[in-house]
Amino acid sequence: MFAPDILQGRVAMITGGAGGIGLDIAKTYGRLGARVVLASRNQDRLDHAAAQLSEEGIDVLAVRADVRNYDEVKAAVESAVTHFGALDILVNNAAGNFYCPTAELSPNGWRTVIDIDLNGTFYGCHAAYKHLKQSPFGGCIISIVTMLGLSGWPGAAHAGAAKAGILSLSRTLAVEWGADNIRVNTISPGPIGDTEGVRRLYQETGREELERKKTALGRFGRKTDIANAATYLASDMAAYITGENMIVDGGRWLKYVAA
Ligand SMILES: NC(=O)c1ccc[n+]([C@@H]2O[C@H](COP(=O)([O-])OP(=O)(O)OC[C@H]3O[C@@H](n4cnc5c(N)ncnc54)[C@H](OP(=O)(O)O)[C@@H]3O)[C@@H](O)[C@H]2O)c1
Repeated sequence: MFAPDILQGRVAMITGGAGGIGLDIAKTYGRLGARVVLASRNQDRLDHAAAQLSEEGIDVLAVRADVRNYDEVKAAVESAVTHFGALDILVNNAAGNFYCPTAELSPNGWRTVIDIDLNGTFYGCHAAYKHLKQSPFGGCIISIVTMLGLSGWPGAAHAGAAKAGILSLSRTLAVEWGADNIRVNTISPGPIGDTEGVRRLYQETGREELERKKTALGRFGRKTDIANAATYLASDMAAYITGENMIVDGGRWLKYVAA
């Protein structure tokens, strides 16, 4: 549905891009002309994902990086720029989560999720900034959050707090870096049916039907719904959009508030 060259010439780095929603975003960006950089921890998954993209003729670089480590994130950004000559788009997608009532959550479990989601996003933005502000297209940051960050997330206080922090960080950066022509936006997916997260959090716990019914549309989303939103936000079609949180949740948030 997008013009086939809508992202032509851009270089996009996607953290957690070797699987799940991140890989779908990477494939969609690549098919629409971008050169893509995948950054995550597991080398086998990175190699496998990069091979899939290469087979489609997409120019791809896979870089091993743990987003909890600023030096590794910085090195991944520098590798991207050395390899492709620029960085125009950063998608902060990497995340960790596990179900645990807060009273049973260890400080270490709390710290781990905050480290991946919130600190990892800050590290990405910080390391990419000097390159994004040189982008001839205007720099673009998209971070994947969830409306559960705003409503609170019983059973995942760590992830909810981290996502709320990312929303606030993104709005701060949208203002601080607007003069550098960097747009900073977030996407809030609802439950995405074809992901490992939904399988673990909802299907394995017998909550699938309940969670499905919580959406106004009565169904889970697909990875491609999020990739389409991320494409729109990265493209010139969204040139005047910054500091926005695009909710792609089938009306889950609204139904929750209206009920
Ligand atoms: N699935 C949903 O329904 C849903 C709903 C709302 C929001 N979201 C958000 O959407 C994003 C993607 O979700 P998903 O379901 O596709 O997740 P996923 O399948 O669990 O993928 C997460 C990715 O992050 C990477 N990652 C985890 N820890 C990392 C670390 N320390 N450093 C670098 N990379 C790391 C993982 O790769 P390695 O393990 O190899 O590092 C993996 O590729 C997340 O931000 C999630 O919170 C998802």
